[in-house]
Amino acid sequence: FVSHCLILLLSAAILSAEEQVDIRRSDFPHGFFFGASTSAYQVCNIADGTSGDIANDHYHRYMEDIEIIHSLGLTAYRFSISWSRVLPSMRETWWVNQAGINFYNSIIDNLLLRGIQPFVTIFHNDYPQELEDRFGGWLSSLMQEEFVHFAETCFKHFADRVKYWMTINEPNLLAEVTYERGLFPPARCSPPFGHCASGNSDVEPLIAVHNMLLAHGKAVKLYREQYKSKVNGVIGITVCAYMYTALTDFKDDKEAANRALAFNAAWMLDPLVFGDYPPEMKRYHGSELPSFSSEERELLRDSIDFMGINHYGTLYAKDCIHSHCICNDSVYTLGSDRLIRGFVYTTGERNGFPIGEPTGMSQFFVVPRGMEGIVNYMKERYHNKPMFVTENGYSSPGNEDDIYQHDVKRIHYHQLYLASLAQAVRNGADVRGYFIWSLMDNFEWSSGYALKFGIYRIDPQTLNRIPKTVCYLVQRFLEQFQPWC
Ligand code: NOJ
Repeated sequence: FVSHCLILLLSAAILSAEEQVDIRRSDFPHGFFFGASTSAYQVCNIADGTSGDIANDHYHRYMEDIEIIHSLGLTAYRFSISWSRVLPSMRETWWVNQAGINFYNSIIDNLLLRGIQPFVTIFHNDYPQELEDRFGGWLSSLMQEEFVHFAETCFKHFADRVKYWMTINEPNLLAEVTYERGLFPPARCSPPFGHCASGNSDVEPLIAVHNMLLAHGKAVKLYREQYKSKVNGVIGITVCAYMYTALTDFKDDKEAANRALAFNAAWMLDPLVFGDYPPEMKRYHGSELPSFSSEERELLRDSIDFMGINHYGTLYAKDCIHSHCICNDSVYTLGSDRLIRGFVYTTGERNGFPIGEPTGMSQFFVVPRGMEGIVNYMKERYHNKPMFVTENGYSSPGNEDDIYQHDVKRIHYHQLYLASLAQAVRNGADVRGYFIWSLMDNFEWSSGYALKFGIYRIDPQTLNRIPKTVCYLVQRFLEQFQPWC
């Protein structure tokens, strides 16, 4: 407690010495949600030979974590349900793990008791191994019904209290890193990313996404027919949403930037709003792109009540069709994906200068105006459908021993991105909430514990939660800060 107070007071001193960005809660509409996000595998259960088996032990410390969320003044908490904790095996066994249900019931009840709105992601990267072993996970259409069964189990137990649902977290990113680049298990690679030589076809990411979209559509139908009315809830999806800007003023590069946007977020959202893949993708992929039957188009059309946007950075886009840039592994640093982005080379540098300050994550540069850019893109393309910024966060380059130095950067990151978001909201974008990624440092997938996005640090020995300086900003921004703690 005493050290917490000291940190807050020290932070105040550091911050006053820094140039301040004038951004206030009152720059956002009344009722706008401010929250923090986590996901089950990343916090419950740590490319440094680690795994998420224990992670931050949120499973045993969730009450403390809820108190932290409350003390910061956050009004929402976004978390995911661990599929295997609730349904350890396939649908045919119908075995629901009551201990898992009790755990999520307690999280939900305790959040609500403190006036914090639970935002639940049903699937955030982790599923029972059996589904992979038996039929290959998302590469199989069988996964659709498995997902619906899992979603239904969640609705059955939690839809009487949870009002905000997201079916799947970042299907676009998941398909890319799992089935194109071989970075996430089962680590399959598509040409030209042949380093894991699994010999798979380059359409695997397209197939995986196709199955995830249909699984989403079926789960949403079920939710709307049978569970929505319980608390008049809403359901959406969360997408990885980079902003892209043309590397040069040439028309080809401007078109490439638009294509990159279409091949990234619109790949998910066009089907779920309009019922079909983006025209840009259909043009470039031709028959490689799986197609929807008319019933499937009907199922998918208008199947989101809101769009969840995970936004971290902006990249330059360069045309690869006419300008012969080399799209192969040897030049791949920040993405030159024939398959996913439609012959666009994406990069974080122009003439040796980065597009924004680099962060710990090689492709995430600090480009605050990109927030307004991506929100405006969504607003225009999807007729201002409601949006939530479901993730936005900063990971320090290198280790965070100098916590104050990095934390000043983190503070500025959030201030500048919030200011950019506020601008979009002022210009009419229907954004209803903003979630920091993440509540605490956690297992950053293929980067293990090396990348730290949290506003709380986790002591590796004791797993104690230690507030970083940014917490002072959050409390002050949310008008919770009391100098006497
Ligand atoms: C988005 C993902 O949803 C989350 O799991 C990940 O940790 C962050 N991006 C940071 O890379």
